[in-house]
Amino acid sequence: MAVQLDRIVPLGRSFREYQLMFNLTEADLAGRVLDCGGGPASFTAEAIALGYSVDAVDPLYEYAGEQIEQRFWATVEDVMAQIDATPDDWVWTVHTDSRALRRQRIEVMGRFLKDYRVGDRYITAALPNLPFADSRYTLALCSHLLFLYSDLLSLEFHLASLQELCRVAEEVRVFPLVTLAAQPSPYVAAVCQALGDRGLMTQIQSVGYELQKGGNQMLRIFRCGANHPA
Ligand SMILES: C[S@@+](CC[C@H](N)C(=O)[O-])C[C@H]1O[C@@H](n2cnc3c(N)ncnc32)[C@H](O)[C@@H]1O
Repeated sequence: MAVQLDRIVPLGRSFREYQLMFNLTEADLAGRVLDCGGGPASFTAEAIALGYSVDAVDPLYEYAGEQIEQRFWATVEDVMAQIDATPDDWVWTVHTDSRALRRQRIEVMGRFLKDYRVGDRYITAALPNLPFADSRYTLALCSHLLFLYSDLLSLEFHLASLQELCRVAEEVRVFPLVTLAAQPSPYVAAVCQALGDRGLMTQIQSVGYELQKGGNQMLRIFRCGANHPA
C-alpha cells in the first residue's frame, strides 16, 4: 500500500473545484461521500465544515502533515514552470492564470493541513483494495488519479479499482478522462465495455470545469437498478 512520497506531486483541489468537476448538487452531497485518492485536496475539510459527511482515502495519509507540506513546497514551482512552458495545454476560465493557480493551490494545502492534523476522516489505504463495507458510501469521487495516469496504471488496475469503488459506493464519479498529456485516456471505452459486461451502467457527462484542455468530462458509474439519470 505504501507510496513513495518523493514520487507524488501533492497539489490538491478545492470544494468548489470538486463541485464543478463532478457536477455536484445538494442531493449528491446529502449522503455519505468518499473522496478516493483525496490527497491534499481541501474538498473533505471544506465539506465537513459545511456539514456534509465525507471521508477521504489515500496511501499518502501514512505520512505526517509536515512531510506532505514539505513535498508540496519541493514540487509546486516545477509544476507551475511546466504549466507556463506548455501554454496551449491549459484553459484559464476557472483559474485566471498560473499565478492565480499557484496561490489557490497554496490556500488549498493550508486548508487541508489544518483539518488533516485534527481530523479522523483521512484513511490510509490504496486502490484496488479499500477497507470499507459494501455500500458504505452513497457516492465515491475520484479526481486526478484514474485515467489521468493511464501511462503508469494498467487497464487491469483501472478495472479492479472501479469495481472496488462500485462495491463500496452506490455511485462512482471519475474526473478527468484525459491523460497527463491532455490526450483522451485510451482506457475509457474498454472500461465502459467491461463494466457494462459486469452489469454496471456507465455514462460520460460534460462538466463545468476545464483546466487541462479537453479535460471537461467525467465518467459516472451506477449499479443497474439504482437511481440514475435517463
Ligand atoms: C494528483 S493527486 C489528486 C488529489 C485530489 N484527488 C485532487 O484532485 O486534488 C493523486 C492522488 O492519488 C493518490 N494515489 C496514488 N495511488 C493511489 C491508489 N492506489 N489508491 C488511492 N489513491 C492513490 C496519490 O497519493 C495522490 O494523493
